[in-house]
Amino acid sequence: MIIAFCSKTGNVLKFVKKLNINYSIVNIQDIDTIDKEFILITYTTQLGEVPKNVMNFLEKNNKFLVGVISSGNRSFGKYFAQAADIISSKFSIPIIHKFESSGFQKDVILVEERVNNFDLFRKK
Ligand SMILES: Cc1cc2nc3c(=O)[nH]c(=O)nc-3n(C[C@H](O)[C@H](O)[C@H](O)COP(=O)(O)O)c2cc1C
Repeated sequence: MIIAFCSKTGNVLKFVKKLNINYSIVNIQDIDTIDKEFILITYTTQLGEVPKNVMNFLEKNNKFLVGVISSGNRSFGKYFAQAADIISSKFSIPIIHKFESSGFQKDVILVEERVNNFDLFRKK
């Protein structure tokens, strides 16, 4: 398993740096292809949209995508962290979590639990 992420202003990067997980973490800006199962962590932009570079990456690399996590800001109301909803329905994979900004401690703990035990999580 790989954690692939995208961060524009640093929140998602800050979040992934807090994670104590058993997998390697890659920035999608540093790679072209993924040939192993991966979980994507992205931010949300433009009123509930998936960042363009993330969607371009997924169009090419959705074969091994197994789950999605997104960051957002609750001030966007119904659009909060909606990138995860779009990716989840487009590629038929589960939303593991949505968090605000760089995440609180509770978000870190929850994501660590779900990601480190992903085989259990996806059977639920
Ligand atoms: C132009 C712009 C549009 C945004 N649109 C949304 C949105 O629709 N929904 C949401 O939840 N957050 C939205 N956000 C907030 C970001 O998703 C949030 O700050 C996120 O933590 C940024 O992650 P990053 O610092 O890793 O880039 C927006 C931020 C910007 C600057």
